[in-house]
Amino acid sequence: MTDRERFIDIYTKNITREGSDKLLEWLEGSDFFTAPASTRYHGAEEGGLLRHSLGVYDCLTALLDMRGERSKWSEETIAVSALLHDICKVNFYRIGYRNVKENGGWVRKEVYEIDEKFPCGHGEKSVIILQNFIRLTPDEILSIRGHMGGFDTSVKGGDFMISRIFERCPLAVLLHMADMEASYLDEERA
Ligand SMILES: [Fe+2]
Ligand SMILES: [Fe+2]
Repeated sequence: MTDRERFIDIYTKNITREGSDKLLEWLEGSDFFTAPASTRYHGAEEGGLLRHSLGVYDCLTALLDMRGERSKWSEETIAVSALLHDICKVNFYRIGYRNVKENGGWVRKEVYEIDEKFPCGHGEKSVIILQNFIRLTPDEILSIRGHMGGFDTSVKGGDFMISRIFERCPLAVLLHMADMEASYLDEERA
């Protein structure tokens, strides 16, 4: 099974609420299945975003199983939160070029660059895009909004919102942990 087939399999088995078919159609018409997950950190290669999304799903379900808490949330909520938390990165990267020194000479290399066309944050942008297609539950909104944890840019500005989210939404904490595990422990560094 390819990553694409696996994503569609988990998606269609678990995400069935109104609008989910339109959301999948939109994803299939976008670069979601080929985009990288970042320009130079984790998953900076073709298909990196798809691999990362599946990786976070695997880490989140393993964490929930380990803690005996899988039944606390619906399988649909688990799939929505994990598979779609970084949907803000759809149509977000473009191919650029950089000159790099190799064996004493300069060579032109293809690199991914950020090309943000709808700048309205990271977790919040994922929530906004998803809400255009499906109605999210409060736990899904809070976990996707807060999934960056202490790395969220609002933290630098002194905002305590992420702490408030973590205090009232355990799924947000677990999604953040799964995101960290998939990004920093499992994915290859570029
Ligand atoms: Fe993210
Ligand atoms: Fe992520």
